[in-house]
Amino acid sequence: MAYLRAVAEIGTDIEKAASLLRAGEIVAIPTETVYGLAGNALNSAAVARIFEAKNRPHFDPLIIHVPDWDAVASYATEVPHGAQLLAQAFWPGPLTLVLRKRDHVPDLTSAGLDTVGIRCPDHPLTRSLLAQLPFPLAAPSANPFGYVSPTTAQHVDQQLGDRISYILDGGPCEIGIESTIIGFEDSQPVVYRFGGLTLESIETVVGPLQTRAHSTSNPRAPGQLKSHYAPRKRVIVGDIAALRNDAAYQHAAVVSFSTDYHATHQIILSPDGSLQEAAHNLFAALRKVDEFPVDVVLAETVPHEGIGRAINDRLSRAAAAG
Ligand code: TXA
Ligand code: MG
Repeated sequence: MAYLRAVAEIGTDIEKAASLLRAGEIVAIPTETVYGLAGNALNSAAVARIFEAKNRPHFDPLIIHVPDWDAVASYATEVPHGAQLLAQAFWPGPLTLVLRKRDHVPDLTSAGLDTVGIRCPDHPLTRSLLAQLPFPLAAPSANPFGYVSPTTAQHVDQQLGDRISYILDGGPCEIGIESTIIGFEDSQPVVYRFGGLTLESIETVVGPLQTRAHSTSNPRAPGQLKSHYAPRKRVIVGDIAALRNDAAYQHAAVVSFSTDYHATHQIILSPDGSLQEAAHNLFAALRKVDEFPVDVVLAETVPHEGIGRAINDRLSRAAAAG
């Protein structure tokens, strides 16, 4: 008997995505950051399917996606003024707010925490999907746990295509790196994850921020594991030119910011030196190096400003795996 691999359908049918989600199924959705693996955030069975498809440990909470700021009051209480200011300034957009949750948000969604991450994504297909659903969408990045996040429908299909029936195709994600996560401690904003929204922009609205993003044992962001966002190849982040002088790394692949190192297997994230372009290309590059016939990948940090902080964060987590 022939075994058929179940395959996901890839398309732009919002009605189809909506009816699957209403039925408690999971669907991959596009956002401006990365693709998400979405299910009804208020339905524990649907949320359980997300964890299962991703092989994600249950201690790692999900972000819930809402159509607008008005929806937040249904899922969060005690919303700090700073949260409202940030949402007014940056939603829809790459910003997740961690707020005290209401009881009807299932514990599975929030991994037992009394807070829940909420964001309003900025993608036309997903916004119109959210507008017609009577529930928010829990959606982690649509990759197997620990691997690089997907920035195209094809990336999702390559790894989860046999576990989901539909991928809503919104084209390549514009930003290409996950949302910035902000929590509140004593009503003061704290950065839990660097992401698509820059610290500089956030500080113009709420003033100087504390950062917890680099902690590897942060109980408030249990998903911030040191080794994450990682390709299968060993990644070394450092001075590429110096590393290439070492005989052991002469045949390694290279992922550079803007410099051409003339390596046989090389990806330049942004020949023009644009951090936005580098962020947009980063995850596709980390996937591509897995296809190169090499054992080791040499990468370099980018200027540590703007979205460069998020790029450097993801590179260091990719390197921590090896
Ligand atoms: O851009 C994004 O945020 C994408 C798109 C799909 O929206 N989603 C995403 O989800 O990156 P995920 O699950 O891959 O990463 C969410 C991170 C996890 O590290 C998790 O630990 C953290 O958010 N998180 C979620 N809820 C939290 C909470 N209540 N407190 C602290 N951290 C939380
Ligand atoms: Mg993720």
